[in-house]
Amino acid sequence: MALINPSILSADFARLAEEAKAVEGADWLHVDVMDNHFVPNLTLGVPVVESLSKATDTPLDLHLMIEDPDRWAPQYIEAGAGSVTFHVEAAGAPVRLAREIRAKGARASMALKPATPIEPYEDLLPELDMLLIMTVEPGFGGQSFLDIMLPKIRRTRELISRHGLQLALQVDGGVSAATIERCAEAGADVFVAGSAVYGADDPAKAVRDLREQAER
Ligand code: DX5
Ligand code: ZN
Repeated sequence: MALINPSILSADFARLAEEAKAVEGADWLHVDVMDNHFVPNLTLGVPVVESLSKATDTPLDLHLMIEDPDRWAPQYIEAGAGSVTFHVEAAGAPVRLAREIRAKGARASMALKPATPIEPYEDLLPELDMLLIMTVEPGFGGQSFLDIMLPKIRRTRELISRHGLQLALQVDGGVSAATIERCAEAGADVFVAGSAVYGADDPAKAVRDLREQAER
């Protein structure tokens, strides 16, 4: 089964509640938190997540592109996040952090930037509910999909199977009608799409179309 998570980064931030409603029927709403340190862009923080979680029934998939996620992740769970992704490049203690996220009742997920390999983290996989493979350099929506990430997606899916795990494998960045089938074929099953959803005339239909394409 393919899950489609629209990224609110490509929505109109002055109308977040309506923009969240526009994609009801999506599996999760992807929320990109950027701190202008880990990535060269700044988006939103805990108070906005708290309001957004009250404004929609779609569960929130937080993508923390911030330094010191060890300190901040618990606050995002208290603000209503159902899933929290931290970057392994930023985490001080990824195992402890993943355990804390799960203990607080959210799904624990770890992200890898394009130049970060999966192999050193193989033994951490059982601590996670999801792994995110970035298919652009994190920081901005609307970038081109890096197809050099396809072998990493494939290797990660193989590792997950070899360990007999039920981990979800998310891709984020440049996912669209033109690229989603290659991601699915390589083994991804959770697809973040920003511009491909919010740039469409009918965002809810774009979600349905992407899901159908990924499941083909
Ligand atoms: C980029 C963010 C993505 C972004 C994707 O750093 O993590 O979630 O919103 O946008 P698109 O789908 O337009 O590449
Ligand atoms: Zn993201």
